[in-house]
Amino acid sequence: MVSPVDAVTPLITQAIEATLGAEFAGADPVLRPSQYADVQVNAALALAKRAKRPPREVATAIVAALDLSEQCSAVEVSGPGFINLTFRDSWLARLLAQQAADERLGVPTQPRQIVPIDYSAPNVAKEMHVGHLRTTVVGDALARTLEFLGHDVIRQNHIGDWGTPFGMLIEHLLEVGEDSPQAALLETDPNAFYQGARTKFDGDPEFATRARARVVALQSGDPATLERWQRLIGLSTAYFNRIYTALDVTLTDADLAGESTYNDELAAICDELEERGLAQISDGALCVFLPGYTGREGKPLPLIVRKSDGGYGYGTTDLATVRHRVRDLHADRILYVIGAPQALHLRMVWETARLAGWLPDDVEIVHVQIGNVLGEDRKILRTRSGAPLRLMALIEEAIAKAGAHLDAARPDLAPAERDLIAAQVGVGAIKYADLSVAHDSEYVFDLDRMLSLTGNTGPYLQYAATRVRSIFRSIEADPADPAFAQAAIDLAEPGERALAAHLLDFGTVVAAVGDELEPHRLCTYLFELAQAFSAFYENCPVLKADEPTRTSRLALCALTLRVMERGLNLVGIRSPQQM
Ligand code: ARG
Repeated sequence: MVSPVDAVTPLITQAIEATLGAEFAGADPVLRPSQYADVQVNAALALAKRAKRPPREVATAIVAALDLSEQCSAVEVSGPGFINLTFRDSWLARLLAQQAADERLGVPTQPRQIVPIDYSAPNVAKEMHVGHLRTTVVGDALARTLEFLGHDVIRQNHIGDWGTPFGMLIEHLLEVGEDSPQAALLETDPNAFYQGARTKFDGDPEFATRARARVVALQSGDPATLERWQRLIGLSTAYFNRIYTALDVTLTDADLAGESTYNDELAAICDELEERGLAQISDGALCVFLPGYTGREGKPLPLIVRKSDGGYGYGTTDLATVRHRVRDLHADRILYVIGAPQALHLRMVWETARLAGWLPDDVEIVHVQIGNVLGEDRKILRTRSGAPLRLMALIEEAIAKAGAHLDAARPDLAPAERDLIAAQVGVGAIKYADLSVAHDSEYVFDLDRMLSLTGNTGPYLQYAATRVRSIFRSIEADPADPAFAQAAIDLAEPGERALAAHLLDFGTVVAAVGDELEPHRLCTYLFELAQAFSAFYENCPVLKADEPTRTSRLALCALTLRVMERGLNLVGIRSPQQM
């Protein structure tokens, strides 16, 4: 099953070669949307110079060599040398029938690649902030989409679970007791727990001494200390899991691959870098100096792999992640869905890994850069008091607001149903706001706009889906009934045709999201699908139409709903039964 554009592209490529000669084999026919037809072919204009013939003449020759009688009702040369294609309604209807019969709705299965995805990665005993929210949501959408495209996705949650603060945190946990209300904060308000430890550390020299000794014990692998540390991690990951569940994110404990995972490899990483002459001691620290990387005043910028006190840093651990993902996970393609400000860090790590032979050229490695989320003041989002925002509080607020909207619009809903829908809408609104803009751009966090039923929002799309559902509910029919997937579809009205053409693009768009790693393209597609459906529904009566038009239109509605639900599912957004 292919989209109309994908179906005609190879035929045009062949005609170009037949017309202009073998040296034009495989030339891109440059298909673009057209104002006057379904698509326009810009190849003649693009190739005329190379062919040393006027573009219009080239266009006419290509058309003469082209047989699109099955696919097109009109193939016309226009203007300076465009070729305008108008698809046959019957041909579109046939493609649509194939899409409806396909469980994958026309989404191709790509040649399987092993794709580790590094995303979410919050820090233990710290609040997850909106930045973590965004990598979590974008990473999860990519994981779902790539999996659906047939890839072997390996989720890697690189949590911050190691480092000097753990001495103080463990010591604090020991003092307050694991079953105390203070310890319970780790699962509800981790910043508060952290602050408790910090205050003691700063104010009580004896505690500080014990905390420092605890770091040494932890690093030397003292079993009792490791056990305490494990408890701390357990309480913290329980918090992360509560957030993941609330957000409907697919990460589980099995995906945890925190910084500590690599502890045993760090010494060897440093040794190898030194042996290969890639690292050298500078001011007591072991550093890699890469050509072309300079800091302030043009001074060479080091990637520090071992600090002067012997400790390892974030960069060393990340070198280990590259090596692990290539060597042990057999990655074909590695994604790091992390903040844009870490671009330099990643580039230095990857380049070092390449020089060290840990990252072969045939492994694709990508930083899916996550842009900042801003407050209304266009600064990094914080609470009114200036404290970092609690993510759970934010999610709860979104759900409460969605619930209030729902109470006004649907007072008839039973409480359990109401709560379920409020959660689906509130969470969908937050996630969609993260997903619908380019992942590397900044945006202003505005809960009221996110929850709006109009505009390019999650609730708008969810509402569009429920409108389709309600058509079927009113006739007590099931949109998933195979009869609708098999029904003949007739495309006579412009509204039907436009909706059909949009539906047929689904597979191409999902494949492009997998290739370009841009979930916002799928969001845009779904938004336009909802609009195409609205236009269709306004102009083409469904239930009041005579047969066979009625069944044909119901079949179009059913397919729209399936595509909408699948599309929302691929970006991790629930589709409520009603709103
Ligand atoms: N824990 C880090 C942070 O909160 C993000 C880690 C991203 N992953 C990585 N492999 N460096 O900023």
